[in-house]
Amino acid sequence: MKDSHGRVIDYLRISLTDRCNFRCIYCMPAEGVCPMGHDEILRIEEIEAIARVATRIGIRSVRLTGGEPLVRKGVVDLVAALSDMPGVENVSMTTNGVLLPEMADDLKAAGLSRVNISLDTLDPEQFTFITRVGRLESTLNGIDAALEAGFNPVKINAVTVRSLNQDYLAFAKLSIDRPLHVRFIEYMPVGDSSGSDGSGWGKQDVVPSEELLQIINERAVAEGLPELVSTSDDDKPLGWGPARYFQFPGAQGTVGFISPLSRHFCSQCNRLRLTADGKLRPCLFSDREIDVRAALRNGGEEAVHECFLEALNLKPDDHHDKVGTERNMSQIGG
Ligand code: GTP
Ligand code: 5AD
Ligand code: SF4
Repeated sequence: MKDSHGRVIDYLRISLTDRCNFRCIYCMPAEGVCPMGHDEILRIEEIEAIARVATRIGIRSVRLTGGEPLVRKGVVDLVAALSDMPGVENVSMTTNGVLLPEMADDLKAAGLSRVNISLDTLDPEQFTFITRVGRLESTLNGIDAALEAGFNPVKINAVTVRSLNQDYLAFAKLSIDRPLHVRFIEYMPVGDSSGSDGSGWGKQDVVPSEELLQIINERAVAEGLPELVSTSDDDKPLGWGPARYFQFPGAQGTVGFISPLSRHFCSQCNRLRLTADGKLRPCLFSDREIDVRAALRNGGEEAVHECFLEALNLKPDDHHDKVGTERNMSQIGG
């Protein structure tokens, strides 16, 4: 179905929990999030019921997010139910990868098509600084497990933050020898992530994608590598999101750029978000939410359908550079 601005909405991002085994600076506060009450969080069968209604308004692709979706009990069963659901063509997940070595095969067997793995640095110390508690090796093992289990495509999400001074070329080169799709995401200063805990990060830390592309190409040429070229439609990895793709000629994977700040992609926005506590969010950057949990519990699936229609109606045309949110990313699912 189309929203009130004529955009086709066919992608639902479902946050399964706001908890995580990491505490990434840009995503949640150091002490973690205040746990949601048992009754507040949607039960697995409730998520299924909401997803079933979502297919009635034309949702065809579902992505499971968090917090960390793999820490949610019942996640494999949910993947199985969603991938069997008529109307759902693709079930994907965004994860930090830590639990993939033990879960990747079960997830694949349950019907999960694709995984996007968050990894912002290849430096072990910086990794622990960003995630506050994580070890680089655990996410690298998760990437190996995803490839071994046969997920395709496997994408790497790297949030770029100017003051971190990450080695962008080292990241881009991950796409050469293995079928990995590395995506650089402009840091979004939302929730508590904008330096309130001492990191001091803010708008000045956004590295516009055009600048990043230029830096990568300059460094590649200095190392005797070719420049990145735009990827043809045939070589783009399957996806429903806003990334623009490039590649090193002959590479197995690609290099993508997600530019929520420097190049608004709102006019092509195709998605709605469901939070773990059952709120439908028409836009990542707008705190306007619809209480679909109450609708389901009090009115059943017809009431949920009304919520989806309302969400389509409420989707704003653009974020107009107002990128703050009251919730942290971990509560929205990115
Ligand atoms: P595919 O392209 O289908 O692989 O998925 P995706 O890129 O939509 O999913 P993923 O969860 O990997 O998101 C990558 C980044 O894009 C995250 O940082 C998201 O926050 C960001 N993103 C996704 N959708 C939106 C959006 O509607 N608005 C903004 N501002 N950022 C978004
Ligand atoms: N800015 C940009 N990307 C973010 N993510 C989480 N918080 C932010 C932020 N403040 C990314 C994660 C994950 C995806 C769902 O969102 O790295 O890959
Ligand atoms: Fe956890 Fe992902 Fe948030 Fe990091 S970005 S704290 S891994 S949910």
